[in-house]
Amino acid sequence: MSSSSNKSPVWGTRLGFYLAAVGSAFGLGNLWRFPYVAAENGGGAFVLLYLASAFLIGLPFLIGELLLGKLSRSSLFPATLKMIGERHIVRSLTKSSDSLSRVEKSSYKSLAWASMILNLLVLSYYAVISGWVLHFLIRIFLGFVGISVFNGPESLSVLMNNGWLQILLTGLHLIVIGVIVGKDLEHGLERWVGYAMPVFALLLGLMVYKSLSLDSAAEALRFLIYPDFSKLSISSPAQAIGHVFFTLSIGFGTMVTFGSYLRDESYLPLAGLRVATLDSVISVLAGIVIFPLILMGDQKVIGPDLFFKTVPELFGSMSGGLLFGVGFFLCLYLASLGASIGLLETLVANLRETRRVPRRISAIGVTSFCLLVALLPALSSNLLSFVRIGKVGLLGLWDMILINWALPLVALFISQMVCWKLRQELVSKEFEQTESGSSALLYSHWLFVMRFVATPLIVIALALQAWALFS
Ligand code: PHE
Repeated sequence: MSSSSNKSPVWGTRLGFYLAAVGSAFGLGNLWRFPYVAAENGGGAFVLLYLASAFLIGLPFLIGELLLGKLSRSSLFPATLKMIGERHIVRSLTKSSDSLSRVEKSSYKSLAWASMILNLLVLSYYAVISGWVLHFLIRIFLGFVGISVFNGPESLSVLMNNGWLQILLTGLHLIVIGVIVGKDLEHGLERWVGYAMPVFALLLGLMVYKSLSLDSAAEALRFLIYPDFSKLSISSPAQAIGHVFFTLSIGFGTMVTFGSYLRDESYLPLAGLRVATLDSVISVLAGIVIFPLILMGDQKVIGPDLFFKTVPELFGSMSGGLLFGVGFFLCLYLASLGASIGLLETLVANLRETRRVPRRISAIGVTSFCLLVALLPALSSNLLSFVRIGKVGLLGLWDMILINWALPLVALFISQMVCWKLRQELVSKEFEQTESGSSALLYSHWLFVMRFVATPLIVIALALQAWALFS
């Protein structure tokens, strides 16, 4: 493992950070969640809203979280303890920890807890969906090599009616990521994401090519690009913002942890810009892969599990579909692997740094606990199918509450800590590493957007969403 002088781990190579950050950003959020949320919100107009939120809100927040990690050389929880003066630090992160009131100190600590709990809850439901992906990958592969006949609807109903199968697959996924994260940074996360990302990029390129050659491609592109603003609802802005945070891994402490592994010379604004741009490009490419497939099926309304209804069914019926299907689900699994590793690494790093629990033990502890929590979403389609509000089942509710509500709130509070409480001389230095004079301007723009543009926009979006809920 590479170590800096103060023994905290750092990325083995500069590319290591990008691979891990993009690997964590790009996941089921882009391939599975983005298309159905975009479709529910009318397509093109939502895509525009999402892209605008990604750069106006997501990018400055992403830079803010990386900054907090790099300046404190710690993950979110210990960084918060350092900020509120409960942990010794050589150079103070705030003007003085006495400048924070008791209420502020305890709210920051609760916030760090909230972010960790959110991370755990999301990892549990993420592991369930990753288990679904594994199920389809195995079944379609068996169909491709001729061991069994692949049937999309039948595969789905086997999965949905069998909670224990879902738990088994969830457990399998958790073991895979637990083994990777249990190793040290360079030999675990960095190496495995380094292997997975190039394969993933290649597969995605092939998928885009194949999808664009389908008959429904023109209609799909029109749906994705043509903005019909009348299709947006008043909760669409909050959904776009929640999704941006989810897809850029903001609010979970992941980018704080990844920032803490950066070397001193890394230039954060550029790193943030690259990650946000790549993730947005990949989201749009994912839309180009998925929408032609969805439009080929006859189910036009989609939701969390309809993705798994429409897409695999097509692979069973189109020519060359099984090979396409193996590539597609492998791509999806690699994406979910990188993202799950990011979520688990964050929890493990926080435990390791706060309680000095060895990496391997924390990986085992966290994954076992996640498996227990995952029982709820995994049983949502069978044993717990009676838990629903209107048409939305437990899994849908879990997703909605965590991503559309809890995540924007937690991200908002972390950002307030960064842009109001962190010592701004330290922050501005991070923007001034280039020779060009524009960097000072960049800092003031960033701060202005954080404080007076992004923050009010999130508050307004959440208020509109609340209004839609109660009216
Ligand atoms: N960004 C991932 C996705 O889009 C989800 C994720 C969130 C991963 C937070 C790591 C941390 O699927």
